[in-house]
Amino acid sequence: MEAGSALGPTPLRGFKDFYQYASTTRVIAGRDLLSSTGFEFQKEGARRVFVVTDEVIRGTGLVDRIEAGVTDGGLEVAGVYDQVPQDSSAQVCDDCAAAAKEAGADSFLAIGGGSVMDTAKVADAVFTHGGDARDQEGFYLMPREDDGMGRPLDIAPLACIPTTAGTGSEVSMAAVIKIPDENVKIEIADFPLFPRLAILDPDTTRTLPPQIAAATGMDAMTHAIEGYVSTDWSAHQDARSLHALRMIRDNLERAVERGEEDEEARGNMLIAANLAITIALGSVHAMSHPAGAHFGVPHGVANAIHLPHVIRHNAAGSEEIADRYRDIGEIFDIAEPEIGDALATHVTELVGRLGLPTRLSQAGVPEDGIPALVEGAMGDGTTLLNPREMSEEDYAELYRAAL
Ligand SMILES: [Fe+2]
Repeated sequence: MEAGSALGPTPLRGFKDFYQYASTTRVIAGRDLLSSTGFEFQKEGARRVFVVTDEVIRGTGLVDRIEAGVTDGGLEVAGVYDQVPQDSSAQVCDDCAAAAKEAGADSFLAIGGGSVMDTAKVADAVFTHGGDARDQEGFYLMPREDDGMGRPLDIAPLACIPTTAGTGSEVSMAAVIKIPDENVKIEIADFPLFPRLAILDPDTTRTLPPQIAAATGMDAMTHAIEGYVSTDWSAHQDARSLHALRMIRDNLERAVERGEEDEEARGNMLIAANLAITIALGSVHAMSHPAGAHFGVPHGVANAIHLPHVIRHNAAGSEEIADRYRDIGEIFDIAEPEIGDALATHVTELVGRLGLPTRLSQAGVPEDGIPALVEGAMGDGTTLLNPREMSEEDYAELYRAAL
């Protein structure tokens, strides 16, 4: 196996010079877990729980049932913030933190999709450390003991109950939020943002509309594929990515088509999304973040559109990269030598069967929006982790191909 040199590309196999891996969230998965939310969250130090959610989820009655589970365990619900929008912003996080302070809360419980969970994470950081959401931006920049050299300081206990099977935010140390005035999404990642508890119960996705189940499922699939080919790969994440892909292969279409009647598929998709999440991503996410920031394309839809184009482009970069995609192809019974094309076609067909758009123009992106998207993708942190080095021309070409 070739070793990478300081100047050469990062090897995608062999023994790495360095990686670190952490996954510190206690996950409980199974049936009928919502009534034990309080019992479980108490073990993480929560007493006065501040619930973060959105109006749609609250309208389904799910929040009421979980609140009953909180109080059944002897905890109090200090307050509920249900104003999280589809793409949360720094302002929303600040408002949420202020509301939690006002309510005298000591812990956060997020009930929702990625936007709700990311809002709760950032609001919790602001609630605990002060400042505002914007101040939290960056990787590994949260306050630490010993003048920043020691252990990161904990934030207030956070539990997450995802209501979509996709983002994996319930077990990740990252959050993405929008700065609307600047049309950018900022990323915040550090160990304290790992929620202390994640509860995976298919009851939470029972009434999920098929369109959202499809889009969020494609987000999970993108995490698994990008995580596996990322320059920031690790053996730990490889194991998770590949098994997530097997579970997505077996459950995603079932969960979307049969929805309410297929608890097993919905439960397995919650677990698959949980396994797939990583902060080691690549150019699909780099392209999707600005598509969301500028044109409001939902994150999972943007990933579903961009994924095949990035696969094709990356796989043509080197045999070593193509080999990583071959490992993924095996799971889907794809053994063609032109793995980039074959896997990309497979993904496009899947996206079509799921009823999602396959082109950016169908998702409201105009052709003259491409320069702004290219700029956003080049500036996105995940670009640096893509296995093939990306230029502005490359991104412009991929966006045009996806239009
Ligand atoms: Fe994602």
